[in-house]
Amino acid sequence: MNILLTGGMGYIGSHTALLLANAGHQVHIYDNLCNSNIGTLDRVQKICSKSIGFSEGDVRDTEKLTKVLRDAKIEAVIHLAGLKAVGESSQKPIEYYANNVQGSISLIQAMQMVGIKTLVFSSSATVYGDPVYLPYDEDHPTSPTNPYGRNKLQVEEILRDLSVSDKEWQIACLRYFNPVGAHESGLIGEDPNGIPNNLMPVIGQVVNGKLPLLNIFGDDYDTPDGTGKRDYIHVMDLAEGHLAALIWLQGNPGCHTFNLGSGDSYSVLDLLHHFEKASGQKIPYQIVERRPGDLPEYYAKADKAEKFLGWKTKRKLSDICNSSWLWIKNSRKS
Ligand code: NAD
Ligand code: UFG
Repeated sequence: MNILLTGGMGYIGSHTALLLANAGHQVHIYDNLCNSNIGTLDRVQKICSKSIGFSEGDVRDTEKLTKVLRDAKIEAVIHLAGLKAVGESSQKPIEYYANNVQGSISLIQAMQMVGIKTLVFSSSATVYGDPVYLPYDEDHPTSPTNPYGRNKLQVEEILRDLSVSDKEWQIACLRYFNPVGAHESGLIGEDPNGIPNNLMPVIGQVVNGKLPLLNIFGDDYDTPDGTGKRDYIHVMDLAEGHLAALIWLQGNPGCHTFNLGSGDSYSVLDLLHHFEKASGQKIPYQIVERRPGDLPEYYAKADKAEKFLGWKTKRKLSDICNSSWLWIKNSRKS
């Protein structure tokens, strides 16, 4: 299949591009590089020894996107492009709505222009909001608590309306839990521009001496060790979820929602201790105030993806930490 990845130069997109190319698909990336680096393309091509197409552009540039879809003879799109910092989305909500919601509408219009009707959308577990029950299943009420989460939910709703209006669309909204880890080569991984917010990139910067220590946001939650618990999912498991969704969508029109998570949750201290074991490094940390908006715990009920897509996570927390450590070590050299 000829597949376009919007935002494919980013963390999840680069791992997904690699997996799709290795599975024999023709991959074309469309990215404006606002949170990624062109050097990633060489590294992905080096790992898979395959050629991957690239066009620099903004998803809001409908005309350019339409031309790329046409020229590269695209048959399906994975839409990962977007801004993703939860805190920043409250400070710059209009920037987030313009990029994430308007960008998605522009992509749909470009796809309509060319007649492509297969789409996988990067959604997020953040659409659920405060848990009414755990684990979250796909029927859990949605009530996002920040503009970023509302962006994701609005795009899901737009896609549902689209699939009702035109029955030929085949759409999967994948609600990711907490993607972490790196490709086993250690050549690609999460490399955010600026100061990271998420736990694993912060740990990486502590190990690499860019930050003095890890601030753990609260140890007084109602969890066994008091720190927040999350469903961490290896980025290569996540990449495999995209491929499984693309395959399943052939012959399954409509707009479908799937949780992509492991179904387990681990605390901040669990992750830290696994990372220390993998790296042989002691990570200095201090307990600070809770981060506003953080939930004590959430994790996925991942049965639906297993039942329909035949997908479930294979990799463990130790695989996550080993691959992250390899990537962090390698990025220290460059
Ligand atoms: P990332 O920032 O590494 O990758 C996103 C890519 O999109 C970047 O390469 C960026 O340059 C590009 N981009 C942003 N706006 C664009 C635009 N207007 N036009 C073209 N390109 C644009 O993020 P990621 O972690 O790889 O996340 C990918 C997707 O998954 C995002 O939509 C994100 O919201 C979603 N998601 C991520 C997480 C997570 O924790 N990483 C969790 C749930 C959902
Ligand atoms: N944490 C710390 N210190 C840090 C960073 C994080 O203690 O420096 C803790 C948090 O309090 C939380 C856990 O580590 O308990 C995970 O936090 P992250 O920031 O890594 O991830 P979140 O669960 O807050 O959110 C992430 C993405 C969202 C996405 C969501 C999906 O940031 O975009 O996962 O489940 F929507």
